[in-house]
Amino acid sequence: MELAITTTEKLKSKPDDAGLGFGTIFTDYMFNMDYAPDKGWHSPRIEPYASIEMDPATMYLHYGQGVFEGLKAYRTESGRIQLFRPQENLKRLNRSCRRLCIPEVDEAFALDAMKQLIATEKDWVPGAPETSLYIRPTIIAMDPFLGVRASHTYRFFIILSPVGAYYPEGFNPIKILVASDYVRAVRGGVGEAKTPGNYAASLLAGEHAHEAGYTQVLWLDGVERKYLEEVGSMNIFFVIDDEIITPELNGSILPGITRNSVIALAEKWQDKICEKKISIDELMGAHASGKLQEVFGAGTAAVISPVGEIKYGDKVITIGGGEVGPVAKKYYNAITDIQYGQAEDHMGWIEPVA
Ligand SMILES: Cc1ncc(COP(=O)(O)O)c(C=O)c1O
Repeated sequence: MELAITTTEKLKSKPDDAGLGFGTIFTDYMFNMDYAPDKGWHSPRIEPYASIEMDPATMYLHYGQGVFEGLKAYRTESGRIQLFRPQENLKRLNRSCRRLCIPEVDEAFALDAMKQLIATEKDWVPGAPETSLYIRPTIIAMDPFLGVRASHTYRFFIILSPVGAYYPEGFNPIKILVASDYVRAVRGGVGEAKTPGNYAASLLAGEHAHEAGYTQVLWLDGVERKYLEEVGSMNIFFVIDDEIITPELNGSILPGITRNSVIALAEKWQDKICEKKISIDELMGAHASGKLQEVFGAGTAAVISPVGEIKYGDKVITIGGGEVGPVAKKYYNAITDIQYGQAEDHMGWIEPVA
């Protein structure tokens, strides 16, 4: 398939790297491609960033049949631009597509299109420490139809947004609240797919946590409401008695690429690591016996997010004296050093762009 390119003279002014936040500024160009049953995925193109015109009956708007991904492009000290494990994001995009009855995309073609878009926009990749260009590939159902069935037509687009450091004031532990009234996902549902409904489902519990002075929600499983699953929109890790533990993938947890990277590094370094079911009672018990050393979240946005306090019912526990633990620090440094080209990519995780 030939990638068509339409250019524009009307370019936006670029923001200052120092004041960048998250998700508010978008670059000059985007990637678009359409799907129709008789043509398959067709008309791939890079064109000026613009609104998508939609019929008010567009199925995505009514039934949420859509999937997305989130990854970043990093600028190294020498000015190279590189991606971190983008093939894994495209594999997950296709897994999400299968769950949401959306036709899969050709992963090699999508990676190439993504790289061409980023190369076109390379001047938008910020260079200040810990900044990056966030990449949001998305597929939405486009049929104008109000019956409940899978759409016949789709739009795949990729937009880019320069983003700031996740920890502008330093790497500080967060406080999290165990959700007691709500669950994020259930086995057999769509929790392991990256689909908008999961995020809509998480908002109310998030608001309650904020009102109570907590940053994120610690999600329990949707069946027994007993086993730990995720924190906010990150995977979760615990260090108990010198062993790193993360909940095993069970159908309702999103299989994070950062999660997978922590596991792969632990295996390489022969750190004790285990994927298993772990309940909130076991966690509270480990804290009571003095064995809970660290808790941290893992995801693309923050990489590693240390947890300093957990509230469960009326019990509040403090972890590691509210300080960042050595395990969180070690994995944060190892992953970000690879992403920003400050360490050798001994895992084969880097995909160069330009
Ligand atoms: C619900 C949820 N869990 C976990 C993650 C972490 O995944 P990753 O490490 O691939 O960013 C994300 C972010 O994508 C997420 O939205």
